Amino acid sequence: MIRPFSFSDLDAILQIESQSFPKSPYDLATFLNLHYLYPETFLVCVDTNHDLKEEILGYIIFSQDGHIISIAIHLQHRRKGIGTHLLRRAMKTPHLKKVWAEVRRSNLGAQAFYSKMGFQIAGVVLNYYGNEDALIIQWTPVTHNPY
Ligand SMILES: CC(C)(COP(=O)(O)OP(=O)(O)OC[C@H]1O[C@@H](n2cnc3c(N)ncnc32)[C@H](O)[C@@H]1OP(=O)(O)O)[C@@H](O)C(=O)NCCC(=O)NCCS
Repeated sequence: MIRPFSFSDLDAILQIESQSFPKSPYDLATFLNLHYLYPETFLVCVDTNHDLKEEILGYIIFSQDGHIISIAIHLQHRRKGIGTHLLRRAMKTPHLKKVWAEVRRSNLGAQAFYSKMGFQIAGVVLNYYGNEDALIIQWTPVTHNPY
């Protein structure tokens, strides 16, 4: 199930974050700020176990104009389609002209993931991460010509 982020998710999100971005994890203050900025599009994917306790499997934060600010899935739950499920939600935002994200040049797993989702490399920002370049990857929705 996908639902909006709530404050009780913070511990789990911070754990996923440190596993996923060991070089530059967002801290608690950053997540609180992102929740303030994107209350409707900071989403978590959760599983509810038999005693109704929720497990946070991953999260996505995106802007309404299609910028993927971050996406990360718990290490033990990768390659199960959860990233696809979350990214598809962002790609379904109405009136989008494009969806884009920055990815570390060394992050081949994320590049393969976005490529599978139909994204293409649209540019490079040199030293975006200080000592590493960012690839700008982008997806454009198919528009239907009414004529
Ligand atoms: C990138 C990430 C979000 C993908 O999430 P996920 O839930 O594992 O992805 P999915 O299961 O939906 O994968 C869909 C497809 O993408 C491709 N893919 C995903 N991860 C991949 C990897 N590490 N290597 C190669 N291909 C990969 C595969 O084609 C996969 O399909 P398959 O499993 O049937 O082969 C996840 O690996 C992650 O959290 N990484 C760390 C954080 C990160 O790098 N975020 C993106 C930064 S911009």
